[in-house]
Parts: sequence; structure tokens; C-alpha cells
Amino acid sequence: MAGDKFASLIGSERPEATNIVIFGAGGDLTKRKLLPALAHMHRWNLLGPHSRIIGCVRQKWSKSHWVNYVHDQLLHYFPEAVLNPASWRRIAEKLDLVNGDLSDPALYRQLADALHADEGKKNALFYLAIPPSWYECVCKHLHDAGLADESEGFRRIVVEKPFGMDLASARDLNGKLQSYFDESQIYRIDHYLGKEAVQNLMVFRFANSVLEPLWNRNYIDHVQISVSESLGIGYRAGYYETSGAFRDMIQSHLMQVMTLVAMEPPVSLNADDVRDEKMKVLRSMRPIAAEDVEHIAVRAQYAAAQVNGEDVPSYRDEQNVAGDSCTETFAAVKFYVDNWRWQGVPFVLRTGKRLPDRVSEICIRFKEPPQKLFHLDEEHVRNNELVFRLQPDEGMQLSMTAKQPGLSTHLRGVKLDATYGMLGSGMPEAYETLLHDVMLGEAGLFSRADEVEESWKIVAPVLDVWAQQTDIATYAAGSLDIPGMDALLDECEGGWRDLSADSSS
Ligand code: BG6
Repeated sequence: MAGDKFASLIGSERPEATNIVIFGAGGDLTKRKLLPALAHMHRWNLLGPHSRIIGCVRQKWSKSHWVNYVHDQLLHYFPEAVLNPASWRRIAEKLDLVNGDLSDPALYRQLADALHADEGKKNALFYLAIPPSWYECVCKHLHDAGLADESEGFRRIVVEKPFGMDLASARDLNGKLQSYFDESQIYRIDHYLGKEAVQNLMVFRFANSVLEPLWNRNYIDHVQISVSESLGIGYRAGYYETSGAFRDMIQSHLMQVMTLVAMEPPVSLNADDVRDEKMKVLRSMRPIAAEDVEHIAVRAQYAAAQVNGEDVPSYRDEQNVAGDSCTETFAAVKFYVDNWRWQGVPFVLRTGKRLPDRVSEICIRFKEPPQKLFHLDEEHVRNNELVFRLQPDEGMQLSMTAKQPGLSTHLRGVKLDATYGMLGSGMPEAYETLLHDVMLGEAGLFSRADEVEESWKIVAPVLDVWAQQTDIATYAAGSLDIPGMDALLDECEGGWRDLSADSSS
């Protein structure tokens, strides 16, 4: 399998020495995700001795300030990395810093000098952990400074979502990035694709033969993909007010996951073979008419409530949120994929903030048996379900019906359980997997330009209709009592899954 994305899952492939340049090194993403992910990679010996982590900040930090900063962040987010002095020393040796304004060519000259200071490889990964409004400026300057040129080593840029706010802005951004970097050098991160359970979905589907005969409209009633978060928007009003739950989660993470559930087996695991199949799913999705939006999409916003004995403010009372904001903090939508495999099977996606628990899962709900030979105790027995739990307790579960031991025929639901705890330890974080893949040049878990544009095209009617609305339904913070949500499953068997954190046990 060498050369394909899944070779990296085996965990033995070591990337070449790379200069990992982080724009926005003093920001939140860097401290919460990137530094811990890099320290994890270091622990697994996946950052070669000649790899460097070059922070790029606006502030006039000295290198020792940067080293202390990294130390303090790791102490907080991944203490093992610094509590062992030898391990920390080896990480600290890799740290370098450049500072300056993102729009100043001098910054990029400094960077070019830093990359050339090393006699070894000149490979570079530029991580844009900065607001998207800076992407074009940074890419242009990198290009003008000769840093997009791959003659001395690979040059890759990593961009975070949001990738556009709609089709026009996504196209515009793609065009701009592609005028400075080749598409093969651009890695658009969707961290959901780096989650173990999401990758396992592919393995489960295509490395086992038992599922394929069932994986279609003849046996599957519908698919539910849910990401429930218990926290509110925190300090992110500036971004969230312009985004809302639908753009923030559904257009990106949940639709990406959906394509992996619905795609045909790819010809190979090469990035483009996989992404071609995902793209075909997107192109098969039933277009949404404006007049159907009210029947297939639901949105709502959290209202003030007491959660676990504490007062939680309404969304509109969060810091920097407009008092009359109609931004949705919950969104759900029902999609159809009009092809032979999936005709008529609803794919229902839902996500929200300030819901009861933090739970993410993909549920494949199978149809009822064609004949009811047994008297089913509805409370204990449900349709067969295959659930991929993304968090917490990552793993897979197949719910079946079995006879309860005894002289009478009482049926019970039982679960065939494969939590990752059973499969072995050492589960990587999504960012670790994705950074490792960028360094290996494996693009299979990253969104291609056409996928991003196609998904914006699909969701546009929903966003357009919602943009005209001047009111929004509410739900009490900490509840999943969302007006209109149940109606989305009217034609489906079994209703919504219980999303409480312990529903897997
Ligand atoms: C981010 C969204 O992409 O994903 C956040 O912008 C959301 O709003 C987060 O909270 C959820 O990620 P995870 O991995 O915690 O489920």
C-alpha cells in the first residue's frame, strides 16, 4: 500500500525532514492543536532530527520568548512532552522564529533565509493558522519570495476552513490560491477526516466483504450523522455570527463524512481516486428547491437556561453577538443522493452547540425485517444500527436483536461492540494524522477545490432562504428540544438516536 494514504495509518512511514512554518504561531489553533500534534509526532519519532518548527508571529518576540511560549502551551495541552527534560530539549532544538507583518516582503525574505540556513532538505510546509482574509496575501508573498518553487524540496500550504462563505467566495479563493500554488501543493484541512473513526469507516467498508451487499437502498432505511456539542460559541462570535452552524459544520465536516458513507469503492486509495468518488456523490445529490427548504432543513438558536445548575446565557447575550441575531446555533438537513445505490434513502445531518452532551456519530439504520415473526418489545428492540462513534469512546457498534435467556421468547437488543480501547492504544489526534499526511504528500484526507465548490453549490438554496428570514426558533441551552427536528425523520424508521454521552453503553 506504499504511496497511498492508508500506508500512513500503519504508523511506520517517516516523513522527510520538513520545515514546518506556522503563520499565526501565537494564535489559538497553534497552541491547542498544532503544537500538541507536533509534539505527539515527535514522541512517535515522526519528526526527523532535521525537521524544524518555525513560528511566524507579528509581535517582536525573541526566539527565547517563542521557546518559552511553546513550553508553556505544551505544559498545558500536552504535559508529557515537556515533563521529560530530554524530550523537551529535543523539541526545543527544533524551534525557530521569524517575526514581522504578514504584508511585509521582508518577513518572507527572513523566512527564505531561515529555510536556506540549513544544509539539509529545503522541504517546507506552510501552515496558515490565520484568518482566511490573509490567505491570498501570504500566498502571494510566499510565491514572490520563491517559496512556492519546488526545485529544492516540496512546498505545501495548509489552509483551514472556512473555505469561502458561499460558492462565489470559495471559487474566488480557489482561484487566488491556485494562481500562486499548484492544486497539488494546497491542502485544505477538514479535521473531521483526520478522526480515527472517520478513517475507519473507509477501512470498515472496503476491507470487509460482509457490509457491501447491505450497503444500499435495499437494506438501509436512512443514515444519521450527528455532531452535538455541549459548549456555546465561547469567544468566537466574530466568526460565528457570519457563519452559523450550517456553514461551520454541515457544509464542511458533516458533508465530507457523508461522502465517505455514500461513495462507491474507489479504484485505488490514491488521493484523487478517493476524491473522484466523493465528488461523484456530491454531484449526485438532489438539488434543493427554495420552496422545499422549510421541509428539509431546520435551524434554531439557543436560549438562556440553567445547565447543570449554572445559568447559561442565550446566544444573543453572548459577547459580541447582535441582540437581534438570527444566526443558527443548531442546524439539521435532509439530503438525498440520486443514484442507483441510494435512491430514496435520506441522509439526515444535524449539529448544534449548547446541546446536552458532546457526542459525534454516524448511524446507519437498517430496515426492519420483512416479516415480524417475533413479538418485539419496542422499548428494547430497534432496527439494526451500525454506529461509528467519533467521540467520545471512539469505536463501532452493531446493534442486533437476540433472545433473552429463559423459557419464554423475550427479545432484547444487544450490541456488538468494537471500541478503540479494544483495538489497541496510541490513537492519534486528528491534527497529528493530518500534519503527518501533509508531510508525506498524502492528500486523500484533504478537500479538493472542486469538492469544496460543489458542496457550496448544494447548500446555497438553504443559506439563501435562511438569509431572508428575520426570526429564528429557539431551544433551551442544554436541551435537544428543537422545534421541527422530528419532522425531518417522518418517513424514516426508528426516529432520532439518543445522543446522550452514555447511550453507547
Ligand atoms: C470546528 C468548528 O471546525 O469544529 C467548531 O469551527 C467546532 O465550531 C469544532 O466546535 C468541532 O470539532 P470537534 O473535533 O471538537 O468535534
